[in-house]
Amino acid sequence: MTGVIDSYIKEIESFHSRNHDETEKFRIKFLSKKGIIASLFEQLKNMPPEQRKTMGQKINTLKNKALDKIAVLKEQSLPSKKESVINDPTSPAESIPMGSRHPVSIVRKQIIDIFSRIGFTVEEGPEIEDDWHVFSGLNFPDEHPARDMQDTFFIELNPDILLRTHTSSVQVRVMETQQPPIRKIFPGRVFRNEVVSARAHCIFHQVEGLYIDKNVSFADLKQTLLFFAKEMFGGATRIRLRPAFFPFTEPSAEMDISCSICGGKGCNICKYTGFVEILGCGMVDPNVLEASDISSTEYTGFAFGMGIERVAMLKYHINDLRLFFENDLRFLSQFKGDIT
Ligand code: PHE
Repeated sequence: MTGVIDSYIKEIESFHSRNHDETEKFRIKFLSKKGIIASLFEQLKNMPPEQRKTMGQKINTLKNKALDKIAVLKEQSLPSKKESVINDPTSPAESIPMGSRHPVSIVRKQIIDIFSRIGFTVEEGPEIEDDWHVFSGLNFPDEHPARDMQDTFFIELNPDILLRTHTSSVQVRVMETQQPPIRKIFPGRVFRNEVVSARAHCIFHQVEGLYIDKNVSFADLKQTLLFFAKEMFGGATRIRLRPAFFPFTEPSAEMDISCSICGGKGCNICKYTGFVEILGCGMVDPNVLEASDISSTEYTGFAFGMGIERVAMLKYHINDLRLFFENDLRFLSQFKGDIT
């Protein structure tokens, strides 16, 4: 009898089923009331008592083998998730996760919304530019370090064609074609030949602002930027203007906002100063107006430029600029801007 049981075990182990029917036949053959295992247990009763124990154990092993095999075959024959959806036209569709806007797009839209409430309209310019629009038309002297290979990506070996390093180039394009009053913002992508780090990237986004009209003063600039800071970072936000230099504005300033993380008390983000830098700005240099045929005796204007990633980092407390460019869903899905 031992030999018979061993051959059944081999049969079970090598059995393959192609479909549900074959599995069911296999089950009936071994495990049904009139199946092999039941009849072996039946035969056990007639055995001499000294053999019963070992034979009983053998039959139990055979039974467990058969049960395990059935379990495996049933598992294998379960339709895959995909098949079951296809096979059952009445089942509800699998939900497709809704994407979310990129934080740069969310903040870009917020900046545009804020400035459009005070009369600024949006204009865009090309990313591949010429030297005039990025540098010369903006009063950069020929030997200015910003033209250096270190900062600027040139297209092929033509030093006149380059990737814009700032959106101030769109100022020149607008001033060339339009006469004041001009009240516009220019969002866009800019490129700088920088080593990528937590604080710098070779591609990032800026929003430039330009307002030219009669009697535009530094007070208008300050009030416009204060409005923006309060709308973007909350009503308690304070601003601070520090003297700075840009070839295309005079006087020039850098603007800090009170640190949104510690509320100005001092923390490691603001390096315990209570303020963080957010943008560059100033009164449009008369040379820039004249270079674009706008009378600098009749008109004055202000300009400002800010990095969108920088605003987003301050607003959402993001500490590494590289996160914006890695497309990591764990990062991106934390931002829920409206999809429109
Ligand atoms: N273009 C300057 C930059 O990229 C910012 C700026 C814009 C400064 C307009 C003054 C006026 O740093």
